[in-house]
Amino acid sequence: MEYLKADSAQVPVLGFGTYKLTGDQCARAVEEALSIGYRHLDTAEMYKNEEAVASAVRSAGLDRRELFITTKVWMDNLSPDGLRRSLAGSLERLDTDYVDLWLIHWPNPSFPLGDTLATMRKLAEEGKVKLLGVSNFPSALFREAASMAPIVCNQVEYHPYLSQRQVLAAAREHGAFVTAYAPIGRGKVLDDHLLQEIGTRHQKTPVQVTLRWLIQQGDVAAIPKTSRPERMQESIDIFDFALTAEEMKRIDSLARGERLIDSMSGLPWDED
Ligand SMILES: NC(=O)c1ccc[n+]([C@@H]2O[C@H](COP(=O)([O-])OP(=O)(O)OC[C@H]3O[C@@H](n4cnc5c(N)ncnc54)[C@H](OP(=O)(O)O)[C@@H]3O)[C@@H](O)[C@H]2O)c1
Repeated sequence: MEYLKADSAQVPVLGFGTYKLTGDQCARAVEEALSIGYRHLDTAEMYKNEEAVASAVRSAGLDRRELFITTKVWMDNLSPDGLRRSLAGSLERLDTDYVDLWLIHWPNPSFPLGDTLATMRKLAEEGKVKLLGVSNFPSALFREAASMAPIVCNQVEYHPYLSQRQVLAAAREHGAFVTAYAPIGRGKVLDDHLLQEIGTRHQKTPVQVTLRWLIQQGDVAAIPKTSRPERMQESIDIFDFALTAEEMKRIDSLARGERLIDSMSGLPWDED
């Protein structure tokens, strides 16, 4: 595993996404992922699987400090009271005293951002959260947020078909990292001829080439989701090879502004 530095924390560059996994299926998948070596888990109050994630963590018997757990507050809960209640609920369901990274799941213009961030900061100062971040923030709004609070992360859709150059530039200006969700384009990269060709050269699959391209950028983490153990293993086997600068550039050139996730916020995305 490789790590990104965020404040004093070490963030495993490869995490395990859990969206759409619930109940026993989620607990089994997370347990499997932990046994394979994943130490960064991505959940959200909206996924309704925090209890299942906690049950897998308990079964794995790992020291809490070995894990990096991200959860997200839903966009309706961004008032001071809503935030407190949301975090208390997540901590209870996750059966933990703190989350490593707490994200605003989607921006919501109905709540003043400064007030939301001030409350999130207070909760972090109370020790309930180690790091603060946002998700689905266009670059201008990210800059605004990062100028008001110590925001270390913007979690956004990011795969070879969406450049996200503006989001990446804004994160870099503030020393933050980007977490790529839908990192393998929900499976779309499998049929890509260029990724296949580069993969053949390194004896790797298009999924592995894609994840390597993401994490090799240096300030990007990726959180692929799968319910299948062999795919969990495939996704984590990316630390024994490197792409050349030319291969990185050729993968960059696949960007075509393709978004797979519809905006929930009504705010315009960056043009990428
Ligand atoms: N912040 C946000 O708003 C937001 C939005 C979306 C997602 N996320 C987070 O990001 C995580 C990942 O995103 P995602 O789940 O949308 O997309 P993804 O990880 O790009 O793709 C997941 C899909 O790809 C399949 N898959 C996984 N590995 C594969 C492999 N090696 N070969 C072929 N197919 C494979 C999975 O099927 P199987 O399970 O059948 O293997 C699943 O259908 C989520 O789980 C969630 O934690 C966050």
